[in-house]
Amino acid sequence: MNTFRTKQEVRDQVKAWHREGLTVALVPTMGYLHEGHLSLMRIAKKEADRVVVSDFVNPTQFGPNEDFAAYPRDEAGDLARCEAEGVDAVFLPTASEMYAEGATVHVVEDRMSKVLCGVTRPIHFGGVLTVVLKLFHIVTPDVAVFGQKDAQQLAIIRRMVRDLDVPVRIVGAPIVREASGLAMSSRNTYLSAEEKERALALRHSLDAAEAAWAAGETDVAAVKARMRGILEGAGAAIDYIEMVDADSLEEVPALQAGTLVAIAAKIGRTRLIDNTVLA
Ligand code: PAJ
Repeated sequence: MNTFRTKQEVRDQVKAWHREGLTVALVPTMGYLHEGHLSLMRIAKKEADRVVVSDFVNPTQFGPNEDFAAYPRDEAGDLARCEAEGVDAVFLPTASEMYAEGATVHVVEDRMSKVLCGVTRPIHFGGVLTVVLKLFHIVTPDVAVFGQKDAQQLAIIRRMVRDLDVPVRIVGAPIVREASGLAMSSRNTYLSAEEKERALALRHSLDAAEAAWAAGETDVAAVKARMRGILEGAGAAIDYIEMVDADSLEEVPALQAGTLVAIAAKIGRTRLIDNTVLA
């Protein structure tokens, strides 16, 4: 497995693979890799001949009062996990390698980045889109794999690729959960054992939405109220519960197949997100 720290090295390697007629998949991550990330690598291996993982805690997607400094990091562990998955190359740039000093050009999205997580994280998706577009230009992958865990991120990246004619195919990957039902996240490491228990309310509230939908309920307010009860019962501080179209992120007037049910809530000091798409 190759480990690259400069843009030039990874670009040259991918160029060589492309010259040999091989296809390349990119899996962008911020490291501290868990089974959710590894599932993306396994999908990437099926989608292309070579797999590149980027491992970069992107400073521009964290707000001033967010956890950039505290975000968990484990470079040696990440490299071992990538190696075990048969990844071909890991790209680990520093922030100064990634960003030109005094950069003034950024990707802006006008609508989908302003709802859901964008309400409380106004600079987040601009930072994500900018770094993801840069990674697409640096790595020049044929395909890139993103998790449905971050449903809003996936929808906005698909939109960027469509609107800016980026020549990359986007593949979405299902949410990987712990046996308990808790969606895997690098931020779960912030949770105490007791908080992990309470965090199951996120999954339970989504189960309730799925059960209501399966039983014929289509009323958004009624399902939101049921979910709110479950989350508040566990002492979660709800940021939002939203029912939106999974592609456009526009609010739906009534539940329908394909509706994205998305929640964000704080358990103690840790902000968690989870979602489901109604069958
Ligand atoms: P990060 O949070 O490290 O996630 C990297 C990728 O793993 C994302 O596509 C995310 O949706 C996926 N992922 C995380 N947990 C998952 C789970 N439990 N099941 C399935 N997929 C999961 O998302 C980012 O990093 C960054 O915003 C990034 C796109 C790398 C840009 O900096």
